Amino acid sequence: MQTLSGKKILLGISGGIAAYKCAELTRRLSERGAQVQVVMTKAAKEFITPLTMQAVSGRPVSDSLLDPAAEASMGHIELAKWADLVLLAPATADLIARTSAGMGNDLLTTLLLATEAPIAIAPAMNQQMYRNIATQENLSTLRRRGMLIWGPASGEQACGDVGLGRMLEPMDLVARCEQYFQPKALQGKSILITAGPTQEAIDPVRYISNHSSGKMGYALANVAQKMGARVTLVSGPVALTPPQGVETLSVKSAEEMLDVVMANVTQHDIFIGCAAVADYKPANIAEQKIKKMAGHEVMNITMVKNPDIIATVAKLDEGRPFTVGFAAETQDVESYAKGKLANKNLDMICANDVSDTTIGFNSNDNAITLYWPDGSLPLGTASKSALAHEILSEIQQQLEKNAVK
Ligand code: C5P
Repeated sequence: MQTLSGKKILLGISGGIAAYKCAELTRRLSERGAQVQVVMTKAAKEFITPLTMQAVSGRPVSDSLLDPAAEASMGHIELAKWADLVLLAPATADLIARTSAGMGNDLLTTLLLATEAPIAIAPAMNQQMYRNIATQENLSTLRRRGMLIWGPASGEQACGDVGLGRMLEPMDLVARCEQYFQPKALQGKSILITAGPTQEAIDPVRYISNHSSGKMGYALANVAQKMGARVTLVSGPVALTPPQGVETLSVKSAEEMLDVVMANVTQHDIFIGCAAVADYKPANIAEQKIKKMAGHEVMNITMVKNPDIIATVAKLDEGRPFTVGFAAETQDVESYAKGKLANKNLDMICANDVSDTTIGFNSNDNAITLYWPDGSLPLGTASKSALAHEILSEIQQQLEKNAVK
C-alpha cells in the first residue's frame, strides 16, 4: 500500500557501518510512495556508494555544500524546505554531537539548521559510545528541542560488542515513518501546555514549591504529539524526561513561566494550563542565604500574589487560544471548578479530586471530570495517558463545534 504517497523524506546518512542498510531502507520507503532524497556525509561514502543510493532513490545524491552544480539544481535551502521529514539514519555519535552543537560544517548539518521539517534521528554506534555521557547529553538536548529519537535497538554489534546502539532495522524505521504520517485527530493544530510545579525563591538556596510531579502535563504533551499536534511544553522543575517530538522550555518561577507562555502562546491554537503554579511568592528574595539567628524562634516571610497565567492568556484580545485549565480540589470539586471556569474565562476545565491520595498529585492515575460553559463529561479514574487522550479528543470536538458555529 502507498502509505507514504507523496511524502518527501530527506534521508541523511552518516558514516557508520549500518549505512549499508540504507539501500534497503530507501527501497522500502520508495515502494510505499515516498520520494527519498539522500544526503550523505563524507564518511558515509566510505560505507556505501552514492551510486548505489542514487540507483535506489532515483535521484542524484547530495553531498556537498560548496558544489556549484548541485547548488544550481536544488540549493541547500531549497532542499531544506522541500522535506516533509528529515530522517538521520544511521546517526553516528559525531553527527549527533554536531547537530546538538548547531554546527553547519557540511551539507547535512547545514540542512538541519535550515529546515523547518521534523527531524527523526536513528542513532547507531558502539554501545559504549552510545552510553557515553556526552552522547547521552547530546541526545537529551536534541529531544528537548523536539527532535524524534528512533531507537537504538539492542543486540550484537558489528564490532562484536553486545548492547544498545544498533540502528533500528529498515522495516522498523519505515513503520515509524508511516506512523508519523498517519492522519491524526490533531494534525495541523498547535498546543502549548504548562506542567509541573513552580519554585518561588526565598534566598539563593531556598524556595517554596509544591508536590506536583508534572506527570499529567507531560502525558498531555506526549499524547498531543502522537495525535499529530505541534506541541510546546513549558515545564517547571520536574524529574521527567521531555517527551519525544515536543519542544520543551524549562522555567522555575511563576513569573518566568508567565513570560515564556506569553512570548509563545499566540502562535498556538490551544493552551492547557496544567502547571501547579504557586499562588504566592516571597515579596523579597534575600540576596544572601538567610542565617539562623540565636533567639529567633519564629521567622516570617511576607508573600505576595503571583500573576495568574491562565487568566492572563484567557484575557487576550488578539490571538487568544482555546484555553483549558485544571482545578485540583479537595472538596466541592464541581462548584469550585465551575467557579474557576467562569472567573478565569476558560473554555474548559479539567477538575480532579485530590482528596483521595491514591490518585492525583504524583500518582500515575487520576480521576477527572471535564466542564465547559454548557456541558460536562465525567472521565472517571484512569491512567494519566488515557485521560490525556480523552481530554484532547474532547478539546478537538469542541474546536470543531466552535468552527461550525
Ligand atoms: O486558581 P487555581 O490555582 O486553583 O487554578 C488552577 C488553574 O489555574 C490551573 O489551570 C493552573 O495551571 C492555573 N493557574 C495559573 N496561574 C496561577 C495559578 C493557577 O495559570 N498563578
